[in-house]
Amino acid sequence: MIKSPRGTRDLLPPDTALWNFVEATVRDVFRAYNFHEIRTPIFESTELFARGVGEETDVVSKEMFTWEDRGRAESDKGQSLTLRPENTAGVVRAYIEHRLGERGLNKLFYIGPQFRRERPQKGRYRQFYQIGAEVIGPPAAGSESPARDAEILELLATLLDRIGITNWTLELNSIGSVADRARFSEALREALEPVVNNMCADCQRRAVTNPLRVFDCKVPEDQPIIKTLPTISEFIDDESRQKFADVRAILDAVGVPYVLNPRLVRGLDYYTRTTFEFTHGALGSQNAILGGGRYDGLSELLGGPKAPGIGFAIGEDRLIMALQETNSPALKGPDAYIAPLGEGMNLEAAKLARELRRQNLVIELGDRNFKLKKSFEAADKMGARYILILGENEVAANAFALKHLASGEQVTVPRAELANRILQK
Ligand code: HAM
Repeated sequence: MIKSPRGTRDLLPPDTALWNFVEATVRDVFRAYNFHEIRTPIFESTELFARGVGEETDVVSKEMFTWEDRGRAESDKGQSLTLRPENTAGVVRAYIEHRLGERGLNKLFYIGPQFRRERPQKGRYRQFYQIGAEVIGPPAAGSESPARDAEILELLATLLDRIGITNWTLELNSIGSVADRARFSEALREALEPVVNNMCADCQRRAVTNPLRVFDCKVPEDQPIIKTLPTISEFIDDESRQKFADVRAILDAVGVPYVLNPRLVRGLDYYTRTTFEFTHGALGSQNAILGGGRYDGLSELLGGPKAPGIGFAIGEDRLIMALQETNSPALKGPDAYIAPLGEGMNLEAAKLARELRRQNLVIELGDRNFKLKKSFEAADKMGARYILILGENEVAANAFALKHLASGEQVTVPRAELANRILQK
């Protein structure tokens, strides 16, 4: 038997109803904040991620699906391509390529699959889905303002609320400017020197090439050492400090709760200043439901104009897992199951189903060849709220037996009142 590749999975009903509900809801919320959707290719040049995300990150050094694409003709040069492991680099590339900055401050969102060759486990897949947003623009358009950071975080709180996810924690930090980062890296290098020989091979390499990435280490034996290292908050300059205070003041004013986590440096190299993650209790070890932050130098790094930005990506798979813990209304069954009984009744049932569906009810249509018992079983199994019995007598009287499946209560309802009655509970 051929199965789906390791780390990938099929999304099946009834869960797909949750996925659709989530995507419809976030599109609604993005609309309210004047974000516009962007779709970039699922593969890009490998160089984009090497430069944008950083050679020394786990994502780029270990997890990318990369291949050499041979040209098909002389004129068609071969190049190294990679399935996107994240979407920020692609959005910034598109921002530069299409000069989106010249059209003002750009608020973009995306929904789509990303690919990382990680060790699969609960909440971690090789093909996973992100819902992300990026606010990028020239500084003159206000893209550097702490008001943008706070707006993004407030949007996220609203979004999770609208989807029905409670119990999240917003962890917040500032990792300062590029210059602060450089000074911190130096200090880290020094602090690591006497201890790094007792750390894992990855950390020994990181200590030389990119010491900040030591904080991404998951090796349990290394954690006590990592705890003794200096934190970046001691190294950030006055401007970053002031901006971070401004972000927090707005969050306090609008009532979005957060906790400060001075060790939150995030696993990708493009971040500057504000960084954040939302975690959720129900998720186990992969508890980051989303992550993001500011990336003020990324556009220049990719050859573009100065275009500070901030954004986030929600792990949609994990969002759905958290939602499965709740009793989401998105998983409800049809409003009514119509059970036609007797000769010619499929025709009458089709007419009634058409009428009711036009009034926005979700209707499942049975078959007159089913025994009533079988119709009841089917209605029950799919979680229908009502079963509506339609036989010759009902058609003649133009009134139908309507049974509420949970309570067992049955009433006869005239045709014209059916939709209202079904909508009631
Ligand atoms: P990230 O933290 O690498 O950030 O990923 C964001 C979220 O994607 C994570 O918090 C997690 O929920 C989900 N995720 C990551 N890897 C996996 C996986 N293998 N399986 C399931 N879910 C996963 C970024 O990707 C940045 N581009 C976010 C961003 C946007 N920063 C600024 N703008």
